[in-house]
Formats: sequence, C-alpha cells, structure tokens
Amino acid sequence: MIPRNTKLKSREITVPGDKSLSHRSVLFAALSKGRSKVTGFLEAEDPLNTMSAFTKLGLNAKKIAPGEYEFESPGKESLVSPNVELDFGNAGTGIRLSAGLICGLRGVNATLTGDDSLKKRPMGRIIKPLTAMGASIVGLGEKETAPLKIEGRKLSAFRYESPIASAQIKSCLMLAAIASETELEYSENILSRDHTENMFRFLGNEIERITPLRFKIKPPYILNGGEFKVPGDISSAAFFLVLGVLAKEGNLVISNIGLNPARTGILTALELMGAKVEILNRRIECGEPVGDLKTYPSVLKKANIPESLIPSIIDEIPILSVAGLFAEGGFEIRHAEELRAKESDRIHTMVSNFRALGIEVEEYPDGYALDGTSKKSEIVWAELSKGKKISILSHMDHRIAMSFLILKSLSGFSLEIDETSWIETSFPGFETLLRGCLYE
Ligand code: S3P
Repeated sequence: MIPRNTKLKSREITVPGDKSLSHRSVLFAALSKGRSKVTGFLEAEDPLNTMSAFTKLGLNAKKIAPGEYEFESPGKESLVSPNVELDFGNAGTGIRLSAGLICGLRGVNATLTGDDSLKKRPMGRIIKPLTAMGASIVGLGEKETAPLKIEGRKLSAFRYESPIASAQIKSCLMLAAIASETELEYSENILSRDHTENMFRFLGNEIERITPLRFKIKPPYILNGGEFKVPGDISSAAFFLVLGVLAKEGNLVISNIGLNPARTGILTALELMGAKVEILNRRIECGEPVGDLKTYPSVLKKANIPESLIPSIIDEIPILSVAGLFAEGGFEIRHAEELRAKESDRIHTMVSNFRALGIEVEEYPDGYALDGTSKKSEIVWAELSKGKKISILSHMDHRIAMSFLILKSLSGFSLEIDETSWIETSFPGFETLLRGCLYE
C-alpha cells in the first residue's frame, strides 16, 4: 500500500464555480433579450473564453464583483457576425455548445477555433446531427475537426437518437433548436448531465418527457433573461474529496457544491470503494440541488464500477483512478471509451503516467486495470518512497495535472509534473488551496 502519512488541517474550503453551469449562463444570457445576472461564475480560461466569444456577437458583459457579472443581450434575432475568429482555447464544452447555438442564428457567420488539444477533438459528433437539422457547419481541420466554419440559418424540426451519452451533443442540439425557434426530440441511452434542461426550465420553459431518456422541446421559447446562481463544481471538489478520504487524519468540508444527480457519480463510486463522505445542508438553488461535502479518512477497496455510472463520473475518472491506487485489490474502469475524446486521450495519459511510476497496468480500448496493492506494486512504492524522481506528462490536460498533484501530496513521492498551467482552464488557485489543506 502507498504509505498514507498525509495529515490535513480540518477546515472548510470552497472550490470555484461549476464550469458546465458557467458556460451555460453565458449562452442563455446571449439568447435572451434583455438583462441576465450570474453569481459564482467560474473565472477560469474556459468559461471566460465563451464569454469573450459572445461579446463579439453583441452580448454586453459587465463585471460587478468577483464571479458576478451582468449581461445585456439584444436577443437572439439581433446577434451579429463577429469580425474575428472565436477562440475557445481548451474547451470542448465551449466550442460544441456555442457551435450549436450559432448554427441556429439566421445570418450570423462565424469561425470557431481553439488550442492544439481542442483542434484534435472529434467534432463529427455534432457536425453530423447539426447538418441533418439543416445547418451549415464544416470542420476545416483534418477528419472534421476545428476550426469550425458556420453560416447560421433557420433549422428544421429534428429528432435525434444519440449514439453517445454526451451532454455536449445534447446541449449543442438543444441550443441550436432554441436559437432557431424549432422543435427537437432527443434521446440518449444513459442520462448525461441535464444542466441545459434545468436552466431552460428555470427560464420558464417546459420540457415534454416522453420517457426518462427521451424528451421534446417546442417553440415558442421563453428567453427573457434570468438570475443564475452557480454553485461550486463537483468535478473540482473531487480532487479534495479524494485527498480527504485518503488522508491519515483530518476532515475537509467542501461547501456549496452542485449535486445534480447526473454529476454525483464520484460520490457513488467513492462510496462503493468504501469511502465515507457526508452530505450536509442539502438545498435547491436555480433548479439544481446543492450541498456541503464532509470527508472522513477511509480504507478503500476494489469496487465494480457499473457502466451506468460512467457518464456521471466521466471527468472524475483520472482522480478516481488515483484513489484506486490505494484500494485493496486494485482498480478497474471499463466502458469508458469516451475518455479518449477528452482534453487528452485520458486512457492513454493515465496508463502511461502510471507505467512511468513503475506499476503494471492493463490497457483496454475502453479503460484500464491496475493493482496498487499487489506484491509487485509494494516494491515500486518502496522504491519511490526513497525519493526516486518520476516525470509525469500532463498532455495539455488540467485534470491529469491536478490528479498527479494530489497523488504527490498523498504519497510524498518526487513527482515532477511537466506543465501545470492547464489548471487555469478550470481551477485557478488549485495549488494554493491544496497547500492550505496540508501541514508544512
Ligand atoms: C460537459 C459534458 C461532458 C464533460 C465536460 C462538460 C458539459 O462532456 O466531460 O467536461 O458541460 O456539458 P460529454 O457530455 O461530451 O461527455
């Protein structure tokens, strides 16, 4: 077992605002005629890029205080073509959701692009259904990748059965239909995060649920702006949940965290592994459940992580795998081929970094398996405990960098992470907050 010597200061912490909700607050503000307000907005590169993109289409964004913005939009019919390329940096959510929305804006032409990681990510998954809806969208990169060239137009009523449980695809098509005042019927095989549905309803619209996994939206849509309150991001809290349950001593309370059931898979998975995390002060804010999370040092064991849980832990698998290194009997994740389409190919990046530590990992097309408590691993941990230096490659991926920083704090191993600046895309202040939880 990796030695567990980390003592935490028992303290209450907060993490930055939810990334998914921050992106969506800008998109719904841009679609709405008039004023919207957001508090708790994640002031990190990804959502700030989305905000900056829509200001180029005519959205006025005014910062009132940290995380607090006032938006004024001329409404979807009056948004204009930007005269520069829209740069979404590292954000798949930013570019895919914005692409859908812009496809439905009649007369608005735009080119959407991003950094080298984003330009490698699959866009065919949105180009295909958007084109079937009548959109004009072309991937100018190799194999239908970004930059995306869009000529916004009136789209047709559309029915789509998504082959992938992806909130980005679902939200992209919903925003296209909403922007274009057209009807959409959508179904998926496992429920992906439903923040777009919740925000759409919060603005006064109705969703016709045909089955738990199939719904319909129909115009006319109500888009008069709203006051959005963004809670802390459970995907960011996940790093501190793992730190808390694997510490030797101390309890963390991570307050004001969004607990949408399609996002709380990390709590279920940790619980299946034997971790104790308590939910305190449950409440509903802006149509989304919120609460505080308290961690307790726990002994972890191998658990079977069911396929149905994958969409709700998709962003947390790297940090959950770090927890898995400490689990008696090992860790295995399967049915997670979607990990290959994230900021990096997270199956490959996790497997190669674990192998760099020296442990044996089995790689599958849809996941990987390891046993950090095997006899062979014990020899590796003993070696690393003597201070052997290991290079970790982050592959332009914030969650890979943060996961290995947590492992470094928990194990005391000399891990050298090649680049940590990606963390700015989702979690400014991560390293300071982490240091603040540890004793010197
Ligand atoms: C997101 C959806 C997820 C997730 C991403 C944010 C969203 O992607 O990985 O970080 O805000 O809709 P998929 O739904 O494509 O899996």
